[in-house]
Amino acid sequence: MATAPARRRTGRRAQLEQVALYPLDWLEERSGLVGGVKYFLFRKVPRDIGWFHTLGSATLTAFLVQAITGVVLAMYYKPDPASAYESIQHITNDVTLGWLVRGMHRWGASVFIILMFFHMARVFLFGAYKYPRELNWIIGVLLLVLGMAEGFTGYLLPWDQTAYWATVVGINLNGTAPFLGPFLAEFLQGGAAIGPDTLSKFYSLHMLVIPGAIMALIGLHLYLVIRLGVTPSPWAKESAPEASQQRSGGRAGLVRPGRRGGNGGE
Ligand code: HEM
Repeated sequence: MATAPARRRTGRRAQLEQVALYPLDWLEERSGLVGGVKYFLFRKVPRDIGWFHTLGSATLTAFLVQAITGVVLAMYYKPDPASAYESIQHITNDVTLGWLVRGMHRWGASVFIILMFFHMARVFLFGAYKYPRELNWIIGVLLLVLGMAEGFTGYLLPWDQTAYWATVVGINLNGTAPFLGPFLAEFLQGGAAIGPDTLSKFYSLHMLVIPGAIMALIGLHLYLVIRLGVTPSPWAKESAPEASQQRSGGRAGLVRPGRRGGNGGE
């Protein structure tokens, strides 16, 4: 007697599950995206992974905060010498929570760069730049350069005395580089002196070109992280030369890159 309602309940539950899963099945059949996300979430990572390994994700979070707060600032900022300074004052003093968004973007820029250096130090000290991850290190170096270029181009935008003279110093420094220096300085300045063209050029670089390149490189960086697996800590048993040599067929200090659908990075 008691089993009939229970069976009806499980039948209804199965039906509900089918309805709920239908959109996911639809998506999976047409794109393989669900399988991809599952692979990403349930892939194997070294056993003793720790806080040091979170620095890359912390850097990513800082970048996302910069992207979101930057989009909000771009809704109010005016990249024109006659109104740039006033527009920033307007954001800080009049726009609801404008001071917070601007503060997050300004301080967040330093946090982003500092985290990038911490992450790079972790990768260096753990030897995670070695075979087969050299390409990811090179992509990282490009990210570092672009991150600093983001800071440099953003610094001019408030168009106050500090911004102006810091940019003069920066452009002059670039100008002293051998061969390419003078061209780079002229390109950045966009004319004989810093002026309206410099401001709009820096704005375009700061909010379109450099963030676009950073996003593309982060995509590539994370693809390689997932493809190659994460390096274990140097003190982990699985990093011991003999252990990893046995596992990876002779290549010391390496977690065997996981195959899609295979047994992962172990
Ligand atoms: C926008 C800046 C960056 C972001 C968002 C980012 C993100 C990440 C993430 C999430 C990981 C995996 C987790 C981890 O190991 O922490 C990673 C790994 C890695 N990153 Fe970055 N990274 C950035 C910059 C850099 C820089 C500047 C370098 C070095 C010059 C670098 C080199 C590497 C390498 C070699 C790995 C593989 C580490 C391993 O296999 O253990 N990254 N990155």
